[in-house]
Amino acid sequence: MNTDRRPLTLFMLFITFIPQALAQKHGNVPAAPPPSELSCNGVFISYVFNTRTKEYPRLRNATAQSWAFNSTVTVTNTGTVEVRAWKVFVGFQHKEILVSASGAVLDGTEDFPADVRNGTYLAGYPQTDLKTSIDTAGDLNQIQALIQLMGTQFGVKPPGVPMPKTIKLVVDGFKCPAPTSRSQ
Ligand SMILES: *[C@@H]1O[C@H](CO)[C@@H](O)[C@H](O)[C@H]1NC(C)=O
Ligand SMILES: *[C@@H]1O[C@H](CO)[C@@H](O)[C@H](O)[C@H]1NC(C)=O
Ligand SMILES: *[C@@H]1O[C@H](CO)[C@@H](O)[C@H](O)[C@H]1NC(C)=O
Repeated sequence: MNTDRRPLTLFMLFITFIPQALAQKHGNVPAAPPPSELSCNGVFISYVFNTRTKEYPRLRNATAQSWAFNSTVTVTNTGTVEVRAWKVFVGFQHKEILVSASGAVLDGTEDFPADVRNGTYLAGYPQTDLKTSIDTAGDLNQIQALIQLMGTQFGVKPPGVPMPKTIKLVVDGFKCPAPTSRSQ
């Protein structure tokens, strides 16, 4: 076993003013989330790399070595508008092959394993919509989708962390600047 458990998170991190403006407007909202949970449109996306394990065949050539990975994508509506038919793009870049995705369907294919080396769109299933905290009395289950990804990636051995190039929300009316990375 060669398991690396150093999680790294890719966040949509926006230093903008709207969350604060909303907080002011609505007066009675819950405490402001930590800075990593702010986003310009009130939708927060994260990609957390959980674990990896070296797969067979074991190779001397590190570039060709495959690793099983487990990661979690979280989409949270912290805004005041319901997000219908949410979809996110995950810009994979390490020849990823997805073997399972719970909580979402892959755009364009229903078959696993799926070659997602050029990135892939994940659409919510069965939770297609993300309600607002306001309409659900803060029920996390209704405002947040958790997608568990399992798959294979190539060539990144510890301590390198195989993060995607980008993640973004792909819903009309929601705009996302470039994400930032940080170690947890
Ligand atoms: C190592 O593997 C990579 C990817 O499969 C390949 O392009 C490269 O030629 C290999 N290097 C050697 C020295 O075999
Ligand atoms: C993937 O990692 C998550 C978080 O550590 C864990 O809850 C889940 O059981 C793991 N999934 C598999 C199939 O190992
Ligand atoms: C990935 O993109 C390259 C370059 O555009 C293309 O040749 C290749 O077919 C694509 N592969 C997959 C699996 O989408």
